[in-house]
Amino acid sequence: MVRQLLERDAPAWRVSVVCRTPTDELGALTAQVHSGVDITTDAGINATRSALDGQPIDLLVLVAGVLERNPLEPLDVASIRKQFELNALAPLRVVAALRAQLPAGAKVALLTSRMGSIGDNDSGSHYGYRMSKAALNAAGKSLAVDLAPAGVAVGILHPGYVRTRMTGNSGLIDADESARLLLARIDELNASNSGTFRHANGDELPW
Ligand SMILES: NC(=O)c1ccc[n+]([C@@H]2O[C@H](COP(=O)([O-])OP(=O)(O)OC[C@H]3O[C@@H](n4cnc5c(N)ncnc54)[C@H](OP(=O)(O)O)[C@@H]3O)[C@@H](O)[C@H]2O)c1
Repeated sequence: MVRQLLERDAPAWRVSVVCRTPTDELGALTAQVHSGVDITTDAGINATRSALDGQPIDLLVLVAGVLERNPLEPLDVASIRKQFELNALAPLRVVAALRAQLPAGAKVALLTSRMGSIGDNDSGSHYGYRMSKAALNAAGKSLAVDLAPAGVAVGILHPGYVRTRMTGNSGLIDADESARLLLARIDELNASNSGTFRHANGDELPW
């Protein structure tokens, strides 16, 4: 997504990345990279705010997430809590911390998961991931309502089943293709579709 934003002609994008671990691929791009940031901590939220240094943000994309496979037995409460901290609470904290930097017309994109859909759940299990992404979806809807008067739109987006570390590279599409679809959804994002839960392919997903 960073590469694709930087490749756009008009308007030209200045892209800042706040991440925990930098990669050579990111380092080779012209984006500003601020690494060593764990967004589940107070220090990480402060570091995110300092990294972006009061600049207006036209597009804020919240990507970081964790999936751990939690069966019912044994119930791993620490794992479920960890997924809530990163998948649900951290994106909300980042948006709250940067709210004053979102001008009218800005967009926020939350990377959620279809596994957070209660209506679409026919295979069960994955307690921490499903619950935390459902909570993120609820936060995204509230953010859409709360930020609407300021002219900020919020997209709640499932990236597809993507070949990444999270899926052990067993997904159906590559990250490049997912980023292309996500950016198309972000381009379409406006006041009238803010707060909807969508697949990267454009389908609206059930809550
Ligand atoms: N891949 C899929 O098929 C799929 C499907 C549905 C939804 N999603 C969602 O899409 C997003 C991206 O997933 P992905 O497949 O790219 O996952 P991934 O390959 O596992 O990458 C996860 C990213 O989150 C970062 N991260 C983890 N904990 C963090 C923390 N405490 N603070 C800051 N960054 C942290 C990781 O940084 P480190 O490198 O430092 O660990 C890594 O950059 C996630 O929100 C995921 O839930 C993915």
